[in-house]
Amino acid sequence: MANEPVSKNIVRADGRVSGEDRTANLGHESMTVWFTGLSGSGKSTLAFAVEEALVAKGVAAYVLDGDNVRFGLNSDLGFSPEDRTENIRRIGEVCRLFQDSGMVTLTAFISPYIADRARVRELHPEGSFFEVFVDTPLEVAEARDVKGLYKKARAGEIPEFSGISAPYEAPENPEIRVDTSKPIADCVAEIIEQLGL
Ligand code: ADX
Repeated sequence: MANEPVSKNIVRADGRVSGEDRTANLGHESMTVWFTGLSGSGKSTLAFAVEEALVAKGVAAYVLDGDNVRFGLNSDLGFSPEDRTENIRRIGEVCRLFQDSGMVTLTAFISPYIADRARVRELHPEGSFFEVFVDTPLEVAEARDVKGLYKKARAGEIPEFSGISAPYEAPENPEIRVDTSKPIADCVAEIIEQLGL
């Protein structure tokens, strides 16, 4: 699904390097690996571990992480439903560009809405988008509370907190589901195998 530019005086420019050229150059397929799950579910930890393992294998992999991107590109966005949708729309467009560039992009965003994730999928060529559900139950994420945010959310100090006072819509049909009660090395190996990298 393409976004229509505000200006009508925009014309697409085509480069002369094809996707196949880039794949041949890098020696692997390009794709977006989209981790979704609650805050504290382990998305960032997993994405960074997969990135490390892939880079060690010579794969051009890079992580876009929710908290990090909110310090830069998306520093103007908060956590209202509209801002979360815009957060995911922008990241989706970045992923599409990275996918076109030949990279393996790993993302770690709560991305709580099914419709927003479906829109990102639609931006990608068939077979180059993998949704990874980091299936850590709320009770487990909340008990860990690595950043202390669940405690604050329960105390009413953080409004619209995913899983507590804002929705999280779990994927119905993810390409990969991760059970984070398993050792992280096992989860990483399973993900890389399923990606065919
Ligand atoms: S998303 O919903 O728009 O996809 P994103 O992944 O970018 O969220 O950011 C989530 C991170 O922001 C959480 O891991 C947490 O550290 C922090 N955060 C701060 N406020 C909230 C909130 N109200 N709901 C969820 N996460 C929040």
